[in-house]
Amino acid sequence: MSTPIVIDCDPGHDDAIAILLALASPEVELRGIVTVAGNQTVDKTTRNALKVLELAGRADIPVVSGADAPLRRPLRTAPHVHGESGLDGPDLPEPSTEPSRDDPAEWLEPGVVLVPTGPLTNVARLVERGVAIERIVWMGGAIGEGNITPAAEFNAFVDPEAAAIVFGSGVPITMIGLDVTHKALFTREHADRLRGRGSAGRVVAELSDFFQVFHERRYGFDGSPIHDAMAVAHVIDPTLVTTVHCNVGIETSSRLCDGRTVVDRWLVTGGPRNAHVGVDVDAPRFLELLIERIATLP
Ligand code: RIB
Ligand code: CA
Repeated sequence: MSTPIVIDCDPGHDDAIAILLALASPEVELRGIVTVAGNQTVDKTTRNALKVLELAGRADIPVVSGADAPLRRPLRTAPHVHGESGLDGPDLPEPSTEPSRDDPAEWLEPGVVLVPTGPLTNVARLVERGVAIERIVWMGGAIGEGNITPAAEFNAFVDPEAAAIVFGSGVPITMIGLDVTHKALFTREHADRLRGRGSAGRVVAELSDFFQVFHERRYGFDGSPIHDAMAVAHVIDPTLVTTVHCNVGIETSSRLCDGRTVVDRWLVTGGPRNAHVGVDVDAPRFLELLIERIATLP
């Protein structure tokens, strides 16, 4: 019995790999993709999502172009990580389809898990519309240090107001943050295992080659955290990531800490437990799942 999912994303190298992991995994059924401005502008993230589906031979999956800016702040993109196109590195096929004019709210039937892997602008708008969302598994946030500021992770930082709405909505949410994604580095050796395994394998290897440049330069990592793929992997196999049910607040009015996910890991505030937060991951099993599944794609 596969779980239907909708991915709300800002491709983005790791978003692209997350989409491919979903397409390669029978445990999930990708119903549709909504794009958001984040890593790049929404016209670029939309085009990138269409290209990734074209690569996988799944242009049948609808892509809806979502928010082109955060709810109340100017857009902040990440060309320093993902390049000007948002998917710099590999050559990808031109899309054969246009974005869909569907309303993603209609995709969110009972049983569907929403997997946002970018800023939460679209998700906040769904909450404000009163759309019933059964469950969210979000790549974003951090218990510890941020990656776009010392205090904030990028997806939360781009649209803190949206994150505050979503975390205050009462929708069951799992937060796959930097604390776990940085524990599972996809190395050149991992990439080399995929380089000759079909077009998708080649593209994932080349995406990771590009993604690695930032992580080597910034952190000295021998590999890259494929952040967004871990959110999809958590739906595929919930035993990979260990979570703690606790309160998460979002900072929206601080000179230094805007976008910080304030995680009450040890339940000291008595605040409502509104999120399941990733605190550990079986990194070898996650990485093997990722490689094995991508290798099955054409
Ligand atoms: O901080 C990492 C997150 O921000 C990932 O989702 C990456 O794609 C960017 O959106
Ligand atoms: Ca992303």
